[in-house]
Amino acid sequence: MDVDRTVTAIEDLRILARRRVPRMFYDYVDCGSWSEATYRANSQDFARCKLKQRVAVNIEGRTTEATLLGDRAAMPVALAPAGLAGMQRADGEILAARAAGAFGVPFTLSTMSVCSLEDVAAATQRPFWFQLYMMKDRAFMSELIDRAKAAGCSALVLTLDLQVQGQRHKDIKNGLSTPPKLSIANLIDMATKPRWCLGMLRTSRRTFGNIVGHAPDIDDTASMALWVSEQFDQTLDWDDVDWVKQRWGGTLILKGIMDPDDARLAASAGADAIVVSNHGGRQLDGAPSSIRALPEIVEAVGDRVEIHFDSGVRSGQDVFKALALGAKGVHIGRAYMYGLGALGEEGVSRCLRILHKELDLTMALCGVRTIDAITRDTLVQ
Ligand code: FNR
Repeated sequence: MDVDRTVTAIEDLRILARRRVPRMFYDYVDCGSWSEATYRANSQDFARCKLKQRVAVNIEGRTTEATLLGDRAAMPVALAPAGLAGMQRADGEILAARAAGAFGVPFTLSTMSVCSLEDVAAATQRPFWFQLYMMKDRAFMSELIDRAKAAGCSALVLTLDLQVQGQRHKDIKNGLSTPPKLSIANLIDMATKPRWCLGMLRTSRRTFGNIVGHAPDIDDTASMALWVSEQFDQTLDWDDVDWVKQRWGGTLILKGIMDPDDARLAASAGADAIVVSNHGGRQLDGAPSSIRALPEIVEAVGDRVEIHFDSGVRSGQDVFKALALGAKGVHIGRAYMYGLGALGEEGVSRCLRILHKELDLTMALCGVRTIDAITRDTLVQ
């Protein structure tokens, strides 16, 4: 297959991933909670936001380079934490981290990854970010934080919007588990994805690498929903955020902020950055899109904390629009997960190249040469 001609947009990666990844794991990525209204709104609301075309401006020498939390990046984009990346493709987290490192953007490893902190650190050069969920067992949390330090992680992303899991109908109906149960239906499905099966047979990484063998009394993590409901700490509050901040002592990003009051509390808690995010429409269905929530939050705390953004980004134009509305960094989830499922490391690289090209061309057509010049003035009000 000539991928240079057939894969020219993120949507092409999605279609290819659907063909190559077993249904249970493809559906895990391409779904939102309940009616999926918020999931759809995340992308639809980007389409409502219009760009201002400018002409006869010297656009030579443009650059997408930016600074994210003090570090240079090839563009102001980061790979968001995504559980089970190693089930889209064998060793998926390592492949995605390598592609991000080579491109020059940050990669975030999820608590719920298949490859462990140690696996990713050993296989990559560039420091990555680690995403933490608040769990009941504080001794295990402390150990995870220490492991992230030992792995050289340059930032900790604490996710605040998933102490209970939004219901995703497809995951229940598909019996999502890792490794997948060898039911007749799963075996028939997997038989049509030989590339995936071969990769999985070649790797030993098929379960939650950060958890299994590290957390006491956890031997069956196969059912993620059950595991989350048993282990995640529903008492999480701002005191716990402070506990994590003190325990970590480094750059702290608070993820899942959708309300200006929460944004103010996050800034007061001493976060270095917040991620305006509704978890890609996977948690509170019926919430507004993230892009709709962004301007009010920028207004509230834009001068106190670095504002990052995610949910619904499928193109460089979307990246541009989030920047125009005040985000300093834009995180992508499904866009790179589709790339991973479609083409492995090359698919993630391709995803980043597509977004970069689209961002660069959009900058040119809007008449801006630097990321800092992407302001509200570049949008039609
Ligand atoms: C996620 N997300 C997520 N977030 C997090 O903090 N920890 C996690 O383990 C996961 N896992 C996860 C798995 C999958 C398959 C997806 C799609 C998403 C949410 C993720 O970090 C991010 O907020 C969304 O993906 C952003 O929306 P888009 O870019 O996917 O539309």
